[in-house]
Amino acid sequence: MTTVSRILGRAALILSLATVAACGGGGGPSYDPESPEGQAFEYRHAVMLVAGVKQEFINNMAREQVELDEAAFAQAAIELAVLTAMMPGTFENQTLVAESLTEPSVWEEWDDFEARMDGAIEATAALAEAVLNGGFAEAQPLVVASYGTFSNCSGCHNSYRRSDDED
Ligand code: HEC
Repeated sequence: MTTVSRILGRAALILSLATVAACGGGGGPSYDPESPEGQAFEYRHAVMLVAGVKQEFINNMAREQVELDEAAFAQAAIELAVLTAMMPGTFENQTLVAESLTEPSVWEEWDDFEARMDGAIEATAALAEAVLNGGFAEAQPLVVASYGTFSNCSGCHNSYRRSDDED
């Protein structure tokens, strides 16, 4: 499938962005960054964090709050589809560190969690597909719809992500 190979071509770029995201913050973490649980958290956190940046960019452009840049929009949509496809693998390690916002119930209710993941993967792939086939005009309605692309993200966060006291 051509879309998939184009998306996979972005993976190296995404991973380098994720590594940068994982290095932020001062004060030092509560965990050993070299430990399996530390690595698992930093990987998950980086993928989610970069996905959040892409989400905000896509949302602002689709809602016409920033100037339209069709090429940048398409790139962000493709990158978000790649990042979302990476998300399930970031929950393979089931240990949690203090900084993690993951509810332990993720692994007790894995079927439901996985179904929500699949929904988000499908929705972001559909967005990338739309932008590749029909450009911004075809993708915009998917984002701004009342149950739009990102309702899949917030739906899971409402159930499985603890609220961050600092936000
Ligand atoms: C099936 C569940 C699920 C889906 C779908 C999901 N997330 Fe998350 N997300 C989580 C969990 C759990 C965390 C907390 C991760 C942690 O801290 O361990 C999280 C954290 C985040 C964070 C905060 C950064 C962090 O790690 O603290 C952002 C931003 C984010 N997600 C963006 C997104 C976006 C954008 C999408 C949709 C494209 C999405 N997520 C889809 C479960 C999900």
